[in-house]
Amino acid sequence: MTDNLVILGLESSCDDTAAAVVSLSGDSAEILSSVVLGQDALHDAFGGIVPEIAARAHAEKLDISVKQALSQAGVGLGDVTLVAATAGPGLIGGVLCGVTTGKAIAAARGIPLVGVNHLAGHALTPRLTDGLAYPYVMLLVSGGHCQFLVVEGCDQFTRLGGTIDDAPGEAFDKSARLLGLGQPGGPAIECAARDGDPGRFRFPRPLLDRPGCDMSFSGLKTALLRARGTVIAEKGGLTRQDRADLCAGFQRAVADVLQEKTRRALTEARRQLAEPPALAVAGGVAANTEIRTGLETVSGEFGVRFVAPPLALCTDNAAMIAYAGGELFRAGRIDDMTLAARPRWPLDKRSPALLGGGKKGAKA
Ligand code: KG4
Ligand code: ZN
Repeated sequence: MTDNLVILGLESSCDDTAAAVVSLSGDSAEILSSVVLGQDALHDAFGGIVPEIAARAHAEKLDISVKQALSQAGVGLGDVTLVAATAGPGLIGGVLCGVTTGKAIAAARGIPLVGVNHLAGHALTPRLTDGLAYPYVMLLVSGGHCQFLVVEGCDQFTRLGGTIDDAPGEAFDKSARLLGLGQPGGPAIECAARDGDPGRFRFPRPLLDRPGCDMSFSGLKTALLRARGTVIAEKGGLTRQDRADLCAGFQRAVADVLQEKTRRALTEARRQLAEPPALAVAGGVAANTEIRTGLETVSGEFGVRFVAPPLALCTDNAAMIAYAGGELFRAGRIDDMTLAARPRWPLDKRSPALLGGGKKGAKA
């Protein structure tokens, strides 16, 4: 019964309303459709995500995204054999919308329901896209998340470290705002940095002087603010070159920190496991060429495989939720109408909570 699954995935934990259909047949997974309805235009004027606006948009758009996903996959609701919905962590109003929709579909069709941890969705994506075998080290690096995980099974995660304040994408976004660049800030800073000198301004490399894999990125934004202030005080404003140099210095600092912490994460994982594990990355920040190249270099140093899923599957989507739900279901997980929406839901139950809150809600 679990060998051939047609899974409807739902994702609504942040600012993307998403639905997808994934088929799981033996070891082979296929994405039949993946629909992501973003909300950028709704939040732009507020300089960040407004939870209530996000929840309303999810309530309005979830059924539309489901309809589109089914139609693009060429299947009907009657063909779906499993519903997987993100049940946390995230903004509670949005998560509630997805969980309620999932319950309604499961009850109406008499099919099983699985609640999926959003972070597990990201963490298992390299299995969906590249068939990556367990165990591997995952660096989850986006606007809302930043952590290193050893992934040993679909419900077996060990957190090696994470940010204690901002996620890197959040730092990119805030820094871009400080320089008058557009949003999202990551691509804007990467573009401006191309003509910049990363050595002109001195940026710190936070927490590299401390052992372990924890990271901190909020100080980089403060360093940028200070450097910007010094230039403005001297010259009365910022030239295009000043901006480029600030961006290049900031980006190099983030890339350096992620590269060195990745070395430590792989060293620690190799100590814990018999075999040196592969390295995988997910999250919007993985789109950054300098950061990605740094991670590739580290995987080369360790002689391990490096997997970076295509960007559309690195960022928030429902195909990853459908796939994770399928793996969990096969492993025996099944939820019922008591499934609760969880604003906080750490993947590694043994690790203490990180301090970081972040613009996208609690980073478990
Ligand atoms: O994974 P994602 O789409 O959403 C979540 O945060 O869950 O990631 C979005 C984040 C934004 O903060 C954006 O600025 C950042 O990823 N980002 C980048 C780049 N492209 C997107 N950061 C650095 N360089 C990029 N090229
Ligand atoms: Zn995410």
